[in-house]
Amino acid sequence: MNIIIMGAPGSGKGTQAVMICKAHKIPHISTGDLLRKNIADGTELGKQAKTYMDAGKLVPDELVVALIEDRLKADDCKNGFLLDGFPRNKAQADVLGKIVKTDVALYLDTDLNKIAARMASRRVCPKCGYSTSAELAKDGKCKECGETLIIRDDDKLEVVENRLKVYAEQSAPLIEYYKAKGVLVTVNGNQTIDDVYADIEAALK
Ligand code: AP5
Ligand code: MG
Repeated sequence: MNIIIMGAPGSGKGTQAVMICKAHKIPHISTGDLLRKNIADGTELGKQAKTYMDAGKLVPDELVVALIEDRLKADDCKNGFLLDGFPRNKAQADVLGKIVKTDVALYLDTDLNKIAARMASRRVCPKCGYSTSAELAKDGKCKECGETLIIRDDDKLEVVENRLKVYAEQSAPLIEYYKAKGVLVTVNGNQTIDDVYADIEAALK
């Protein structure tokens, strides 16, 4: 099953993606995580992407598309995959449509007032990409791999505001795009993590 997970910054995509991928044994492909890995490794792509990410802007399509095209060629994608954070605008969605078929586009419909609070307390693992909150990870360690959790550079309030603006302008129109293709599944993202996941699994069945 080829799945896309969509939703505003902080809507819970990464959190749900990890759970879905574990259950269905498919790779979790997050463009945000791949870009952050490139930044951590000091690659040329990472250097180019960092300026855009720190400002809450989209990284240019040609960089992200090349990254995804390359990743989707890997053997572990043969039996399906979950894309988290890609596509993020119509041009990226059109490219994706030419490479692979999308079976389900999951949209996490989460209210803006929930999002601000979630992003303020978000903690992420720089090693495996696991995303959690300060409340859930009181010891500050990743429960998947034990690494020390960090606060993301782009979770500062002014950057978050810009990310939400970019999302509304460029990414939100993809909800209608995938609805028109008949693959959109909308899930209420305002519930607890486990309830959101239960709704996703029910929809996938
Ligand atoms: P990316 O990393 O994709 O960030 P994003 O889309 O802004 O989304 P987030 O990762 O912030 O949120 P999320 O929905 O995954 O929420 P999470 O599960 O962590 O992209 C970052 C940047 O990279 C972009 O700004 C752009 O510059 C660049 N980029 C990436 N892809 C690109 C592309 N395709 N093209 C161009 N540029 C690209 O949850 C958030 C918090 O809430 C956590 O603390 C979590 O524990 C908590 N939480 C989650 N669910 C719940 C719940 N149900 N109840 C309570 N708390 C919850
Ligand atoms: Mg994420």
